[in-house]
Amino acid sequence: IDPSIDIVQEIAKLKKEKNAVILAHYYQESEIQDIADYIGDSLGLSQQAAKTEADIIVFAGVHFMAETAKILSPSKKVLLPDLKAGCSLSDSCPPHLFAKFKENYPDHLVITYVNCTAELKALSDIVCTSSNAVQIVNDLPKDQKIIFGPDRNLGAYVMKKTGRDMVLWNGACMVHEIFSQDRIAQLRAAYPEAKFIAHPECEEHILAQADYIGSTSGMLKYTIENEAQSFIVATESGILHQMQKSSPTKTFIAAPPNNLCACNDCPHMKLNTLEKLYNALYYEMPEIDLPMEVIQRAQKPIERMLEISA
Ligand code: 13P
Ligand code: SF4
Repeated sequence: IDPSIDIVQEIAKLKKEKNAVILAHYYQESEIQDIADYIGDSLGLSQQAAKTEADIIVFAGVHFMAETAKILSPSKKVLLPDLKAGCSLSDSCPPHLFAKFKENYPDHLVITYVNCTAELKALSDIVCTSSNAVQIVNDLPKDQKIIFGPDRNLGAYVMKKTGRDMVLWNGACMVHEIFSQDRIAQLRAAYPEAKFIAHPECEEHILAQADYIGSTSGMLKYTIENEAQSFIVATESGILHQMQKSSPTKTFIAAPPNNLCACNDCPHMKLNTLEKLYNALYYEMPEIDLPMEVIQRAQKPIERMLEISA
């Protein structure tokens, strides 16, 4: 990239010329969040992808999110600034192994958390996100048997909230399993007035301490609406940017990880940069490409989710 150009201005210009929209997840770096047309959680982002009138969607997030956008808007060009931006949770559930696992439970309905590949979605009956998982399970008949994957922590949380038993796939997110219970306790002692908020991908012993549990959008909303002046936040640290922007006088502290980790950054999310986003828009690549047959099979369970969440 020519170092003399103003990258933010150029992105705005290209966006207009090409009728493109930039959708960004809260875990993206601050510079990307600041130029996005829409910032949101996984549910909000898929709702936007389904209704956008843009010709090009630049998805500042990870691969499974851009795939979901492509499934919902197959005629659009969906660009991901770095095609290697994957997800440890999605990787923890290879579709061929899940297909075998599923064979053991032929009378079960399959709910998959959106953090999974398009092939996995194609193997499921209904998709969910962290903001609607409880609602979706509650919506099913009481005697419905359920397989839930790939996140064992979200699955356990949903079981607790709904009182249902579900067969869980044993997957997890590398970022949400690093939090240290001891260090969080020390921090809470130092900030007794602070609210402790956590994402449901965290482990059960961390969630047990939380004043609020919810998706990234839910957590952000809680910090805006709650009268507390300080918050200890157990999720990827990118969300702190919007929290601080929305409540400039409040204090936000990233929940401390264990001593093996330096921070709560998701290495996959942070692969995207403003420069890569500019290049993606300029060259219209890398593009998400999925077989039409997978798109068609994955569409139904996602649309079912969107109908319930409308
Ligand atoms: P939400 O933003 O939907 O809560 O998802 C969090 C996450 O881990 C995305 O990778
Ligand atoms: Fe995947 Fe976890 Fe990163 Fe979200 S934070 S993209 S679930 S690895």
